[in-house]
Amino acid sequence: MQLTDQQRQILDGARGPFPAKCMRWLVEWGEAMGARRLVPVANTHALVTVPGNLVHGAGEKALAQSMELLRPACAHKVCCHSTSHITFAHEDQYDEIEMPAEQVAAQQEIQRAARDAGFLMTYTCAPYLVGNVPLKGEICAWTESSAVVYANSILGARTTRHGTESAIAAALTGYVPEFGVLLDENRRATLQVDVAARLATPTDWGALGYFAGKAAGLEIPVFQGAPQPSQDDAKQLCAALASGGGVTMCHVAGVTPEAATLEQALGGKPPNRRITFGDRDLRDTYAQLRTHTGDRVDTVILGCPHASLREVAEIALHLKDKHVADGVTLWVCMAYATRANAERLEYARLIRDAGGYLFCDTCPTNSMRVKAKRIVTAGFKQAHYARGMIGAEVIVDNVWGCLKAALTGRWTDARGD
Ligand code: F3S
Repeated sequence: MQLTDQQRQILDGARGPFPAKCMRWLVEWGEAMGARRLVPVANTHALVTVPGNLVHGAGEKALAQSMELLRPACAHKVCCHSTSHITFAHEDQYDEIEMPAEQVAAQQEIQRAARDAGFLMTYTCAPYLVGNVPLKGEICAWTESSAVVYANSILGARTTRHGTESAIAAALTGYVPEFGVLLDENRRATLQVDVAARLATPTDWGALGYFAGKAAGLEIPVFQGAPQPSQDDAKQLCAALASGGGVTMCHVAGVTPEAATLEQALGGKPPNRRITFGDRDLRDTYAQLRTHTGDRVDTVILGCPHASLREVAEIALHLKDKHVADGVTLWVCMAYATRANAERLEYARLIRDAGGYLFCDTCPTNSMRVKAKRIVTAGFKQAHYARGMIGAEVIVDNVWGCLKAALTGRWTDARGD
């Protein structure tokens, strides 16, 4: 790989041993991926948190390994706009969840150090909802697969899928290896998905994403004939694409900044494959992620990816003067900044009065591993992971079906899906 003088100096230790180690990781990763050079990165989103889950903590060894990375990382300043991915819980929830003391102390140390290093501690899987909104063409290094697809496809920014080390290395050195969707030639759609189904809710867009993700694998799909999505629709589409398959970006013809038309998305060439997503596919995709042996539910999870303020408002107004059924826990997950807005606008009070929880900065499956027997969720991604990670039965439904289940304690298939 060709390095500039400045890049070589960092590799040789001019900024200290840890940035040198970061540079080595980036060079080795880039060489493995066929990159010819490192390019400046303007924006990173990294997992700057200690590992573990709410119930068991991380375990001594994993915690020590994590601190070995995070302590030196947070002793340096970031080189660009950098935000943080989810953590295991926001600090005002530590008591509620009885985290092991050493886990809490480690996270508090890292939170302070990372803030001083220049990371904006957004603690969310949807950074684009709380101020990290890269512009078209902006080179990024983002963790969180759903956010990666959103950044590439909806915002027109450019990021490959990053892990903890590579995103932190990019933040500290200011560079990323140039390969994959950072290059024009790798952003062309090759799978055309003709959308014939009626998409009525964001979760329907999730079904489209899950279906297309399975079909695409690592390919780039283009959606033709879909209606104009809302931000919440796009959020569900991108999250499900990344969980149904290994998709890094998609095109929604007329929406994706670099795909004003189908032809533009396809780069003037015919697609390698063409499939249709019809009403029957919509129903079948829901059915795939409904693995229940009864209709009683104990857990309802909304906010995967983290809820927007608009979603929080819809949930709150629907719950006004109602109450969650006995034996049901309703989690509404969001970034801390969104919860602060919800508090100010009294949506938070409405949700709490109804018996729901506003849970911020974390994830019910990845971090919390909530104890549940039967979950209803509006997120295809949540449904995809919850079965394996929590071992619960899962039902995916739109937000209204989820709220009905929360209020009655039973899930019924209102739409006949
Ligand atoms: Fe976010 Fe967890 Fe869903 S990280 S995207 S709430 S599975």
